[in-house]
Amino acid sequence: MSIAYRYSKPSYFTGKIYNINRLSRTLYEIDINIIQDKLISLPPQFVLVCVPGYEAVPMSIAVQEENGGVIKLIVKPVGETTNKLVTLNNEYIGIIGPLGKPLLPSGDKILLLAGGSGVAPMLRFAQYYASLKKDITFVFGAWESDEIGDVPGIIRRYASEVITTCTNGCDIRGTVVDVLKYGYVREDEYDYVFVAGPEIMIRNIANYVKNQYKTIVIMERLVRCGLGLCGSCIISGTNKLLCYDGPGFVLSDIVEVLRQ
Ligand code: FES
Repeated sequence: MSIAYRYSKPSYFTGKIYNINRLSRTLYEIDINIIQDKLISLPPQFVLVCVPGYEAVPMSIAVQEENGGVIKLIVKPVGETTNKLVTLNNEYIGIIGPLGKPLLPSGDKILLLAGGSGVAPMLRFAQYYASLKKDITFVFGAWESDEIGDVPGIIRRYASEVITTCTNGCDIRGTVVDVLKYGYVREDEYDYVFVAGPEIMIRNIANYVKNQYKTIVIMERLVRCGLGLCGSCIISGTNKLLCYDGPGFVLSDIVEVLRQ
């Protein structure tokens, strides 16, 4: 029996930010009411966030609530738009989405590996698989422990096991890759492994995992139109557009690109 999951066609939505909370030294959670509409997405679909007067930026939907009436973003302020965004409590913003394609293989045991702001798309996978009562292990890594902060509190709503990694003061001293490398978790005990974070982390994991067909990586590229029209988000060395074919890819389909 096949199951049809529903998600919206890409549209323009108006959102009102009603909560901004600093989770760690580098990450904020931002909760947004979708005004008079629903933005229904499936992981790892994403949105373009439009702050008036600033460049639109792509962002993962970290959590979807009230059947698309509320979304949560996890934001690392790194540029003009994101630095402005984390100051806009009770303000209105524009949102274009959902963009990209759902990628939801079925499995009973799911391993999610997130580095830094890669925690956002991994949270959405965690929320989705938790709704199906699947067994989820979530590894969240950063460089310093103050970058971990209160993020595990959100992860624990969905994951049965949460492991943090950093240079000092986390569950494991080391990197997300080390969790696999030194056998803290065993890849072959999971039906699917999902990875999001800095590209260097994804490259390291791509070199390390044994089953490329059961590893899903969430890529990041420059996104302009978000609709497969401008070509700015092409994954070089392939004919794949991140905004149209991704942002999630089966590792075996892009592993050569990651190894270049
Ligand atoms: S952002 Fe224009 S094709 Fe993807």
